[in-house]
Amino acid sequence: MTDGMLPDFLDDATVAAWAASGAPLVDLLRQARTPGRLTGFRRGGRAAVLVTDPRHVHQVLGVGGDRYVKRSHRARPLIGDGMLTATGEAWRSQRRLLQAMFTGRGIQRWEHHIAAAADRVVARWAERARRGEPTDIAEDVQFFTVDTIWRSLTDHPLDQETYVDLAAVQDIVAALPADVGGAAALPPEVETALAALDERMHRAIAEARGRRTADGAAPDGAAPVGAAPVGAAPGSGAPGGGPSVLDRLLGAAETDPAYTDRLIRDELVTLLVAGYESSARTLTWAFVLLDQHPEVMERAAGDARAVEAVLSETLRLYPTGWLLPRQAVADETLDGLRIPAGTDLLVCPYLTHRDPEVWPDPEAFVPERFPVRTPLPPGAYLPFGIGPRACLGTRFAMREMEVLLGGLLDRFTVETTEPVGEPVFGINLRPAGPLYARVRERT
Ligand code: HEM
Repeated sequence: MTDGMLPDFLDDATVAAWAASGAPLVDLLRQARTPGRLTGFRRGGRAAVLVTDPRHVHQVLGVGGDRYVKRSHRARPLIGDGMLTATGEAWRSQRRLLQAMFTGRGIQRWEHHIAAAADRVVARWAERARRGEPTDIAEDVQFFTVDTIWRSLTDHPLDQETYVDLAAVQDIVAALPADVGGAAALPPEVETALAALDERMHRAIAEARGRRTADGAAPDGAAPVGAAPVGAAPGSGAPGGGPSVLDRLLGAAETDPAYTDRLIRDELVTLLVAGYESSARTLTWAFVLLDQHPEVMERAAGDARAVEAVLSETLRLYPTGWLLPRQAVADETLDGLRIPAGTDLLVCPYLTHRDPEVWPDPEAFVPERFPVRTPLPPGAYLPFGIGPRACLGTRFAMREMEVLLGGLLDRFTVETTEPVGEPVFGINLRPAGPLYARVRERT
């Protein structure tokens, strides 16, 4: 790419000054951004195009979803060939297999799991309130989201030991080299965590397979007629429950040789990695914002629509998937800019969501913006991505977050006891550190 094709790119001296300062990437992106234009910068001889205008976002992720593809994911050594990193026909068939389980109707099968997991957090907070002890909200909501995803994957409630093994995935991801294909040696404690995770997954696969054989399950992955969800919490065997994700994968393995135990393991780890951290961080952000706006917290108590609006506005201000990198497969022209094959494009929902052309007073927390009254331009709001690679778990995530946040706000008042950490723009956008708060039963 020659400089003549990059009229709005940051000059190299600005990029060098940013690199020398050690500031986070988002600072460079803020400097590069020019409203309405494609901009970017060059680093190490490579051009990166910054995509923030809704029109361009729509072109790259929406209509151009097959031409601008995901780069190899940093977490690939952990998640293998699961749906997040798979491409082409393999991705299409993996997504097709699980899609129906994650639609609005599909997730009804997991209502009882979500309710049971939320009840646990409510009970924990009731205990904290009784003792007058603060709680760490970031940890509580993380346990909840690991619990819900584990129950829907395996039909088993989460125990503390399993939680420790599963939640280690974030340390594993953090320890992976940022540079894909970089040095493969991992610190010994990370190797140990990875081995424990693998063992946990393979044990779950073996157990579920044993159960299927004993129950004589149908080959399509459907639960045998009349079978209760085995291993579910007492009393949670719900009408409307159905096969777990693992059941569905094992069902596929009976007819499709692509579903080896390795791929099943990869898909489980993928759903875990993709499925718990974003929801946990979003819930934490919601409490950060509500703490700063106690009047909104009061209004949301007992009002399901207000809770939904709080979550939508939280996802606007703090989309945990704040940066969605893509690469051009072939030479492209985007809004007049020639994009040679292999160019990196950085779609940045965080900056798009703060576009004053779309969101008046964009930095302010105003849940009343939702539900939006006039349709937004395509590409303007994308906490779950858009296009073919949009989030599989959107409905599941919204439902679990609504149930937990609604349930907690109905019953408790919340007040943080320590300053809230600054945003950390890592793989996910999260608040730094724990979120200690005092919770009290409403009277
Ligand atoms: C608040 C919670 C969540 C947020 C903000 C979120 C956000 C996202 C985003 C932005 C993407 C697209 C990434 C890209 O285009 O590069 C994505 C993909 C994905 N998400 Fe989520 N997600 C959440 C929860 C979940 C949950 C609960 C699950 C699983 C049950 C899940 C499963 C997935 C999967 C499998 C993909 C990859 C889809 C594909 O490539 O076909 N996510 N998510």
